[in-house]
Amino acid sequence: AKIVAFQKALLEWYDREGRQLPWRVDHDPYHVFVSEIMLQQTQVQTVIPYYLDFIASFPTVGELASAPESKLLKAWEGLGYYSRVRNMQKAAQQIMRDYAGQWPTTAAKLQTLTGIGPYTAAAIASIAFNQPIAAIDGNAFRVFARLLKIDLDISKSQTRPVFQAIGDRLISVARPGDFNQAIMDLGTSYLTAKQPDAEHSPVRDFDESLADGTTLAYPVKTKK
Ligand code: ADE
Repeated sequence: AKIVAFQKALLEWYDREGRQLPWRVDHDPYHVFVSEIMLQQTQVQTVIPYYLDFIASFPTVGELASAPESKLLKAWEGLGYYSRVRNMQKAAQQIMRDYAGQWPTTAAKLQTLTGIGPYTAAAIASIAFNQPIAAIDGNAFRVFARLLKIDLDISKSQTRPVFQAIGDRLISVARPGDFNQAIMDLGTSYLTAKQPDAEHSPVRDFDESLADGTTLAYPVKTKK
């Protein structure tokens, strides 16, 4: 009952105040894929125009697969980390060759594609295919650590599976993609790293670290 109440508070806030972003207009797996790869190392406001141009230049996974590398690199100019776009094209070619142009729908299969790790696989599976799998990025580590006072060191590789299990237990099975994107929005609004405003967050009633004033002690992170 508590989990359902948490989901309800989070999703009602997301419906009212979630960010309207160009990659949230539809749930096309190719659109989710392009946006999530761009957002890995680049801020939302920078990504927006690149995303719109990229989708206009390479409208489908097939067109990305067959694009000349020079045209791809030009579309990526200014974003940096060019291995991202080279890997994107390799993944697109795998989808054309191994899946006849149809995206696999599970996170496990998506993770076999070049450049797609656990986070990106979960984002595509949940947003495009309604699979109830939590997308654990820096925002999710911080939000879940604070809400549940999880003091595991997020720098350690053994910690991710614990957060994955927690996220998978909390996620809304009815709206997994919106749940994941709501956690991202919460992590960039009320539950930011340095200047959180946990008192006013839409899930303040479910926030265990807010309850005892330890918000900034989470997440625990040794390495920097
Ligand atoms: N950062 C990573 N993925 C995102 C998404 N889908 N929406 C907003 N910010 C993000």
